[in-house]
Amino acid sequence: MKKCFCDLSGKKVLVTGAAGFIGANLCTRIFMECDDVTIIGIDNLNDYYDVSLKMWRLNQIKKLCTNKTEQFIFYEGNIADKGFMEDIFHTYKPNIVVNMAAQAGVRYSITNPDAYMESNVTGFYNILECCRHSYDAAFEKYQGVEHLVYASSSSVYGSNKKVPYSTSDKVDDPVSLYAATKKTDELLAHAYSKLYDIPTTGLRFFTVYGPGGRPDMAYFGFTNKFIKGEQIQIFNYGNCKRDFTYIDDIVEGVLRVMKGAPQRDIGEDGLPVPPYALYNIGNSHPENLLDFINILQEELISAGVLPETYDFEAHKEFIAMQPGDVPVTYADTTDLETDYGFKPNTTLRDGLRNFVRWYKEFYLVKA
Ligand SMILES: NC(=O)c1ccc[n+]([C@@H]2O[C@H](COP(=O)([O-])OP(=O)(O)OC[C@H]3O[C@@H](n4cnc5c(N)ncnc54)[C@H](O)[C@@H]3O)[C@@H](O)[C@H]2O)c1
Repeated sequence: MKKCFCDLSGKKVLVTGAAGFIGANLCTRIFMECDDVTIIGIDNLNDYYDVSLKMWRLNQIKKLCTNKTEQFIFYEGNIADKGFMEDIFHTYKPNIVVNMAAQAGVRYSITNPDAYMESNVTGFYNILECCRHSYDAAFEKYQGVEHLVYASSSSVYGSNKKVPYSTSDKVDDPVSLYAATKKTDELLAHAYSKLYDIPTTGLRFFTVYGPGGRPDMAYFGFTNKFIKGEQIQIFNYGNCKRDFTYIDDIVEGVLRVMKGAPQRDIGEDGLPVPPYALYNIGNSHPENLLDFINILQEELISAGVLPETYDFEAHKEFIAMQPGDVPVTYADTTDLETDYGFKPNTTLRDGLRNFVRWYKEFYLVKA
């Protein structure tokens, strides 16, 4: 699909989930790369995991706004609150919107389904409505939202047998509520792109890891447990492959996509062709979970977090697959490479080393 490339300088960017792992890293990266940009950050700072980690991420962003041309305006608020979102859009008239706010995680959706419907469905619907009405308020200097970029997930592929996963694969069989809400977002975005000519791009992320990451994710939980001397549980008896994607690669991909919106066009029928696109962002190199754990162990030892004599094997329990989990995720990133000239390339060794160094500094040295 043809793209309409733009510079972020002088733009107002709305980032939801700005205190989250990916959202916060994206804000930081935007400030490091772009001049004269205003970011309006929204997050409800929910306690799904340690809120102090979210506060730390927000502080990292604020530290970068040292000169007057960069502005970070943060609101603690819920994207499912329509009035709140309308006020934000009316007040700031964002040019680019990046929706990272969501209730993430597959397992939590089994016990807490309401959180998924509220954030991922109602919240996203509100954002689409606000984008739609941004054109009503258009005037000379504000043409409404130029691009809505939103997080989807590799979970939409469910138990797809064909690998690597491609955005042209049929994904009508979600195996978790989380996946169903992410697929819903893609469908809603398509309808709004078609009806209201909103340029939208959905990004299916594949298992993102790195410094300051989410404590609910396996690599983070394994680290906590090894340090406490507890047992880690390895699902599907370790027979599981993941496309682990380093946070900097994800952010690089999101930033490139933000700058290249699907171009508005008129089809042969005289009606707008929906300016709608979807991409995978994954490492495109699946790693065996056991190899991932081995590298994590080696890095924990070499950073001095655990002693060389640590008996890792005694702290492992191999168990069956959990409901909603899938044995392999693996991204086909050809489209991302073709349209944006980018392919994630951080090795597991480098990525996990950075994570372990951060973990040591954040939890062990400071304590
Ligand atoms: N990290 C991954 O491996 C991964 C993989 C696939 C997809 N994703 C998607 O990427 C996005 C970002 O993920 P993340 O890993 O940074 O997760 P995260 O939980 O760290 O970030 C999400 C942020 O959104 C906020 N939030 C949740 N509901 C909200 C609401 N209703 N209103 C306002 N704020 C709300 C949370 O407080 C949190 O800070 C999510 O949409 C997630 O589903 C992440």
